[in-house]
Amino acid sequence: MEQKSKLPIITGKDNPILRIPNIRIGKFSSPDLAPLLRQMALKMDELKGIGLAAPQVGKNLQLFIVDKLAFHKERSEWSFEGIANPVVSRGYIFINPVITTFPKPYEIMIEGCLSLPGWEGRVTRSRRIRIKAQNEKGEAFGLRARGLLAKVLQHELDHLKGILICDKWEHPKKIERKKAIGSLLQHTLKEEKIVFFGSSEYARLILEKLKGTPFAAHIVISHTRELGTLKENRYALGILAFFGGIIPSELLSRFRFGIINVHPSLLPKYRGPSPVQQTIIHGDTIAGVSIIRLDRKVDAGPILAQRKFPLEKSYTTPQLHHILFSLGADVLINILPSYLNGRLPLKAQDEVQATYTRLIKKEDGYINWQEPAFLIERKVRAYQPWPTAYTYFENHNAKKRLQILEAEVAEKNADGFLVPCGKGLLRIKKVRPEGKNEMSGEEFLRGYNVVRFE
Ligand code: NI
Repeated sequence: MEQKSKLPIITGKDNPILRIPNIRIGKFSSPDLAPLLRQMALKMDELKGIGLAAPQVGKNLQLFIVDKLAFHKERSEWSFEGIANPVVSRGYIFINPVITTFPKPYEIMIEGCLSLPGWEGRVTRSRRIRIKAQNEKGEAFGLRARGLLAKVLQHELDHLKGILICDKWEHPKKIERKKAIGSLLQHTLKEEKIVFFGSSEYARLILEKLKGTPFAAHIVISHTRELGTLKENRYALGILAFFGGIIPSELLSRFRFGIINVHPSLLPKYRGPSPVQQTIIHGDTIAGVSIIRLDRKVDAGPILAQRKFPLEKSYTTPQLHHILFSLGADVLINILPSYLNGRLPLKAQDEVQATYTRLIKKEDGYINWQEPAFLIERKVRAYQPWPTAYTYFENHNAKKRLQILEAEVAEKNADGFLVPCGKGLLRIKKVRPEGKNEMSGEEFLRGYNVVRFE
């Protein structure tokens, strides 16, 4: 049987209960404390909140609780100090808390509040904090936190000072009522369909992983010309990965939970069609995948989750696509339940930090030998499987194309098929001459009398 809390939820930005200073708890032996904590945990669960402060249930005490979920979401990192495990039942309890925020860096996150139902706004907070508090037995402990957890703790502490997010938010927005979604979800997914948009072997990686989860696709759209087959007024959810086309905004509004996109970069970095290629060409040491909700503007929607992938060796575009979409599938399946239940905080992208990639053209593969060897080597990896890095050579007075499939930056006294570049030497390891099969650089040198490249 589902237990219901007896506590009220206090709402309204001008409600005095939410605005007056709160009292320190001195008597931890009070018989009222344990039942209050239990009731607050029930209330938080019932309202699907991630944190709840005592004034929000009509008790003007310096006390708040935080759901365990906050410790495991959105890059939360933490360490407790003092006592090892202040866990009680399902939430963490903070009594008489004092917070130290750090001035840099700040982060913006879209926040809502159970006391301001139906609204959310962008709030700027410290990324990391340190908090000291007491548990329900009065034992003191410390906690250092980052990520979502740090934001939740700052939000709850504000409540104890009579501060609400409407005092500090930017661009407040009315949102749909999310309260009932939890119980409606099963029903919705039965009545309305999940549509998958994707058109490559990497998209299939995700499609396959979704099978056997509650989010298996009912309809697969692999080309823009199939968009017209979506005739229902309402679909539950769209999932888009590696889809070679734009989704018309008219269609977006027909998805109850929007269309979720798996994008192989750490957005807002590398928006657009060639993020993985640019990651390789720029020699980045960290790649990553972002799960966002599709917006009218390409790759600019709010972020549901991100995962980094350190590049400890050199990858080609197909290898990195494979890694990032596999990772993306796992992250997606992991977060979808809380997203659909309205419990996943979305984070707006920082437009100022946005960078863009463009569609790769065949000519991009044409090697400019004036470029440094290290850059040409990256392009050899980035431009696979298409357009591939290529050059031309003369053979029996005919100009032929030579695809460079594998290369490495070489030392001055190295052996093999060496080509001087604008800076440094490139050793060509594997090639495909026009009309022939792949061969090693040495085989090519033996078989062809190369006069020059151009
Ligand atoms: Ni709140």
